[in-house]
Amino acid sequence: MFLRILHPPKKRLKKTDYISPTIEKMKRIAVFTSGGDAPGMNACIRAVVRTCLVNKIQVYGVMRGYQGMIEGEFKPMTSRSVSNIIQRGGTILKAARSKEFMTPEGMDKAYKNLQDHQIDGIVAIGGDGTFKGAEEFTARFPDIKIVGIPGTIDNDLAGTDFTLGFDTALNTVVSAVDKIKDTAASHDRCFFIEVMGRDSGCIALWAAVAGGAESVLLPEKETNLDDLVAKLELGKAHNKSSSIVIVAEGEKNGGAQNIANQLKERIDEYETKVTVLGHIQRGGSPTVFDRILAARFGVTAVDTLLAGGNKVMIGIRNNEVCLTELCKATKQHDPLDEKLFRIANILSY
Ligand code: F6P
Repeated sequence: MFLRILHPPKKRLKKTDYISPTIEKMKRIAVFTSGGDAPGMNACIRAVVRTCLVNKIQVYGVMRGYQGMIEGEFKPMTSRSVSNIIQRGGTILKAARSKEFMTPEGMDKAYKNLQDHQIDGIVAIGGDGTFKGAEEFTARFPDIKIVGIPGTIDNDLAGTDFTLGFDTALNTVVSAVDKIKDTAASHDRCFFIEVMGRDSGCIALWAAVAGGAESVLLPEKETNLDDLVAKLELGKAHNKSSSIVIVAEGEKNGGAQNIANQLKERIDEYETKVTVLGHIQRGGSPTVFDRILAARFGVTAVDTLLAGGNKVMIGIRNNEVCLTELCKATKQHDPLDEKLFRIANILSY
């Protein structure tokens, strides 16, 4: 195995920790997308399918994630099934969140369908919910090998510097922030812009730095409204005529609208406005960065399965593709980048 394995940093994983001692030739591989869709998923499906076919492995696409696995929605994939999708957002395999899969009965049905199609390897593209499901499934049915690919705009999985879709979503957010700044400056307004990230402030923080925001409010940090008011007033004293506050969806005060309502009276020198960017962040053509990431992740996922790998997530650290045990990837999120948070604060002066 040629890949660097992450976690735990002190005790290095031995090959035997993630590769079964007897490597039997894999018969068929299934690929699916699950959880929230993310730009780059299609490019990644394409990479998985074509790597299987080059290795003479039959490959199935499972529609609608775990739910489609339960309902037997398996589609044989050819090289042409993935033609002309590299540039498309969303996922041709559709995505869903399945409650039924989390029950023993649901898992049994899914297993039976995999057996009927003689599938013994799975590439699961999704976020932590997808990987938790994968872990439980392989614990119940150890003959099915699963490799995960981090596909979520939130960029919140431990074991990778970047998840598929984050870069595209971030570019969407920053281009929206740029536009809002134009109108904010023209009218001397303070805009509260809410971005996605139920548990993670990664999109918000990166967008705040790249978009030149006055302040950023994150789920990982306590929001102090007095400090925020003081900061906006200081900006005013320094002749700023407009302000941008980026608010992560999971921020504890209940989002951009709530904060704007609470602050309306206190920052009456500015007219306040709220923009919730919502699901536009999840759509659109993937950036070059996400397409390259998709290619590297997809090829490595199949290589890993064929080498006997199991229960690992593909990731990227310092521009090197690496593996992390699924249980480690789901146990904790990558912590907030405190250095970038400091930079955001310095540059909003
Ligand atoms: O997991 C990605 C994510 O974009 C979160 O940031 C957000 O809270 C959630 O998906 C929204 O999902 P849904 O499409 O179900 O509203």
